[in-house]
Amino acid sequence: MTSLSLLCSVAIAPANILTVPPCIQLGNQAANGRYSLALVWHTPNNPYTFELKYQQGTSTKTAKLDFKTISPETVEPHRVYSAALTGLKPGDKIQYELRESGSVVYTGTAIAPKSDRQDHTFAVFGDCGTASLVQAQISYQASRTNPDLLVLTGDIVYDNGRVSEYKSEFWPYHTRSDAWPSKGSPLLTQTLTVGIPGNHDILMRDLNRFPDAQAFFYYWHQPLNGPITQVGEPGSTVLTGTPERLAAFQKAAGPNYPRGANFSFDYGNAHWTCLDANPYVDWTNPKLRQWLKDDLAKAAKKTWRFVSYHQPSFHSSTTHQGEKQMRLIQEIFEEGKVDIVFCGHVHNYQRTFPIQMGAKKGATREELVKDDWAVDKQFDGVKNLKPNGVIHIVDGAGGRGLYNVDFNGAPEKWKPFQATYIADHNFSHVTVKGKRLVLKQISRTGTEVDRMTIQK
Ligand SMILES: [Fe+2]
Repeated sequence: MTSLSLLCSVAIAPANILTVPPCIQLGNQAANGRYSLALVWHTPNNPYTFELKYQQGTSTKTAKLDFKTISPETVEPHRVYSAALTGLKPGDKIQYELRESGSVVYTGTAIAPKSDRQDHTFAVFGDCGTASLVQAQISYQASRTNPDLLVLTGDIVYDNGRVSEYKSEFWPYHTRSDAWPSKGSPLLTQTLTVGIPGNHDILMRDLNRFPDAQAFFYYWHQPLNGPITQVGEPGSTVLTGTPERLAAFQKAAGPNYPRGANFSFDYGNAHWTCLDANPYVDWTNPKLRQWLKDDLAKAAKKTWRFVSYHQPSFHSSTTHQGEKQMRLIQEIFEEGKVDIVFCGHVHNYQRTFPIQMGAKKGATREELVKDDWAVDKQFDGVKNLKPNGVIHIVDGAGGRGLYNVDFNGAPEKWKPFQATYIADHNFSHVTVKGKRLVLKQISRTGTEVDRMTIQK
């Protein structure tokens, strides 16, 4: 590298080379190691000669590059490039330089994934990709908190998870070169971001109707360590379309489809398990349940275990009450000592009391959908900081229209497991310092609207 003084992401190239600038993602850490990252950028469908060099301290490396051509007939053909940054020193700054045909086209920085001994922060929101002022405000406020990690709880784009929808509804708001409350921020180019598939992302499975659907599998490069390895296995998302469209999709998605819908990773002293909660997944399936049990068992020595999926198991809103399918694995969460489950789908913020299996252990599906769950009401996250049970948080207030604003300040309308309900646009910002966790809910104008502390 010619310069070590590159402290912020700067687009140097003509804008038409990088149609989406390098976004920081997990990449396939299952193959590349825990202390690795991916940089993922988009270009037109032209031959390029890219080189990406990255530096930590005095060590400079050249990243291994890959690209896929995305060319469903309804969108402009384009390329998605990825660079694997491996062997990183945890928590240290990375400076990188992207060249095309020898000319610098982009420089940026990232923070390597943190180790068990390093404190960290993360932000969570979902239901965002809707080309709204609110999405811009949330992006702006989240970028101001400068989290180490961002988890998107699904419905990343509306309505059908299409390439064209990412282009108009999502990328312009979260990959800007500058930050404005009314326009968005460089959030995804500055923060390691994890995408969870929601119903609007991957439930549209008809490529004849929308040939550019299922863009989730093109754009999110994440660990390939989930339980589903082949199309057609129980729990996989099975597409329909002409043989030509299906083949083109599979070629462009590569190994991300279908495996990328479920995965797990470590960050700091926490383990994250990310699941596909769409209704075609049957979580009574023994293979899926065993994978989840094993995944949490392997994380037993972590201080924190977080789970994220889209359709919430527990919430008070009137919409989506018929989608409690993930209650089928609440028992595994409790056995695996999961601390917090982060969901989306319901467009507001909700936090439960710590929920316990109690008499529900081994219950039938009919019993599980009833709302008479045992909860720990001693835990308040203010004075009593030790929860007994699994806390469920709905973080679906990232941009889309709100649900049940009339439930604000009306606990008589809430389910009995509900501790807090705020139907406004906001996101979670969480600080993890060893055995202490502080969750702050931040509004689209930057105001703290809820706080919860857990001390182990
Ligand atoms: Fe949803």
